[in-house]
Amino acid sequence: MDIKRRQLLTGISVAGAGVLLNACRNTQTRSGGATNNESKEPAPGEVEPIEVTAAEDLMREHGILRRVLLVYQESAVRLRQDAASVPPDALEKAAKLFQVFGEDYHEKKLEEVFIFPAVKKAPGAAAGYVDVLLAQHVRGREITDYLLSVSQADRIASNSVEPLAKALESFVRMYEHHAAIEDTVVFPAWKAAVGGNELDALGEKFEEIEHEQFGEDGYETALKRMEEIESSLGLSNLEMFTAPAPPK
Ligand SMILES: [Fe+2]
Ligand SMILES: [Fe+2]
Repeated sequence: MDIKRRQLLTGISVAGAGVLLNACRNTQTRSGGATNNESKEPAPGEVEPIEVTAAEDLMREHGILRRVLLVYQESAVRLRQDAASVPPDALEKAAKLFQVFGEDYHEKKLEEVFIFPAVKKAPGAAAGYVDVLLAQHVRGREITDYLLSVSQADRIASNSVEPLAKALESFVRMYEHHAAIEDTVVFPAWKAAVGGNELDALGEKFEEIEHEQFGEDGYETALKRMEEIESSLGLSNLEMFTAPAPPK
């Protein structure tokens, strides 16, 4: 991990994110393999953890990333209306979450290691998407780095407003389509290519990797983080997104 990225990660400060942070740092010196995968007994009043399949795991991770995209979309609209209404630190937190959970984990540790190589070798149309998906991962990381650099300031500089809004919109456009193709074409092709027994083993492997990367509650910590970001921007009420009635 380079120093810049480590410093950025240090900015994550919500309860529970320490697990995310410490685990991210620990991963840098870990050679992989041995993990403590013992099941944890729920504390009194705590909900029992539910098992998720490998494909379900990937798709619920997309759910977190789509919620970041919603923050980006709303931020682009607000930036053009009144740039001062977009707190840079909220945007920075959203971009960091996307980087840590989406890029460094979902893309680099799962898709690029397990999913894409298997799909590339499998027959069918899905293989044809892999190179584009990889190129979009790279472009996404460039845009995230840009978002993080712009959002470091106390306020968005006036000459950065329109380029930032455009970068946010183009990222949303790319990644919405990217995740939709993965959900509907690539992940099903991967499931078909690896088959039932191996899928179960991979589900456990993915869980091990998540624990290595983030500690026990990677997904739950990311979800909590996402809810806090939405709340800070006044985006946590789902009802506000209900579309108006169409013209009569
Ligand atoms: Fe991807
Ligand atoms: Fe993905």
